[in-house]
Amino acid sequence: MDRLKGKVAVITGGCSGIGLGTVERFVEEGARVLVGDLDDAAGAALAARFDGEVVYRHCDVTDVTQIKALMDEAGSRFGGVDILFNNAGAGGAPNRFEDMTAEAWDSVHALLVRSVALGITYAIPHMKARGGGSVINTASIAGTQAGYGPVAYSTAKAAVIHLTRVAAADLARDRIRVNAICPGLILTNIFTPASVVPPGMATMIKQTMAQSAPNTQPIEKPGLPVDIANAALFFASDESAFVTGTHLMVDGGLFVGPRNSWDPEMRAERTRLMEERRAAFVAAQVEDAQSS
Ligand SMILES: NC(=O)c1ccc[n+]([C@@H]2O[C@H](COP(=O)([O-])OP(=O)(O)OC[C@H]3O[C@@H](n4cnc5c(N)ncnc54)[C@H](O)[C@@H]3O)[C@@H](O)[C@H]2O)c1
Repeated sequence: MDRLKGKVAVITGGCSGIGLGTVERFVEEGARVLVGDLDDAAGAALAARFDGEVVYRHCDVTDVTQIKALMDEAGSRFGGVDILFNNAGAGGAPNRFEDMTAEAWDSVHALLVRSVALGITYAIPHMKARGGGSVINTASIAGTQAGYGPVAYSTAKAAVIHLTRVAAADLARDRIRVNAICPGLILTNIFTPASVVPPGMATMIKQTMAQSAPNTQPIEKPGLPVDIANAALFFASDESAFVTGTHLMVDGGLFVGPRNSWDPEMRAERTRLMEERRAAFVAAQVEDAQSS
């Protein structure tokens, strides 16, 4: 219950999905949390729900002055920052390389990479004031393999993974650790942005995702925000005091190997096919022997 007792956390994108799950988990473990997000209504409700333990501040992480203001508020209100969860994000521009534009590229990279870099920059003095800290960046499986997100999104998430290593090296002697989490498929609103998908359809899409989890990854259950929050809790707490510069895949085992390595039905089907071919081969040999 007290794994983050006395700690101050800043969480961007804390009003929904992974960020919200992490706010809830961190508060449960004794942290005070400053949430930066665009969704003011959800932010106000969150602050009211966790009266005193959670403070909400409007912060568009693509705006450098708003990032700085968020970190400075943590400093003035709570006396510093122990934990920074750079998590805000969205799928962003769907453009393929063929129709990529400078605007699409820049907007996605500003949201997903520049925000992380500058979040760290402006948190540093407030972490130093506390004698060090832990930065956690939300990357993605899309940053490690092609095919899990749009072009600009995937490349931005790959950059977050390397930024994590570079920042870890740069900040180690300031006693600031930097790690990343690569979520797999997690049931959140990122797949159903309210501006594009009506609520009924969003529910249907989420149900379909949940149902298809056993066909997607070795661990049958769907990925939930709390699965990522628990990983963030490890990086945020002193239990990970000897861990920096790493990225943790939290993906239900999605990349352990080809599907036949983990799906018993597919393995059985392969065995059945092999048996069938072997039997046909033996039968053909017997027929040959009999006819010669
Ligand atoms: N859900 C997944 O399967 C998945 C997989 C890999 C990575 N991720 C990453 O996880 C992070 C959280 O996404 P989620 O799935 O919880 O989605 P979500 O849509 O549920 O939550 C995203 C939050 O970020 C906020 N946000 C968006 N743009 C912002 C901005 N410019 N400034 C401040 N806040 C902003 C939104 O208002 C929202 O509260 C993102 O970085 C995303 O890329 C998600």
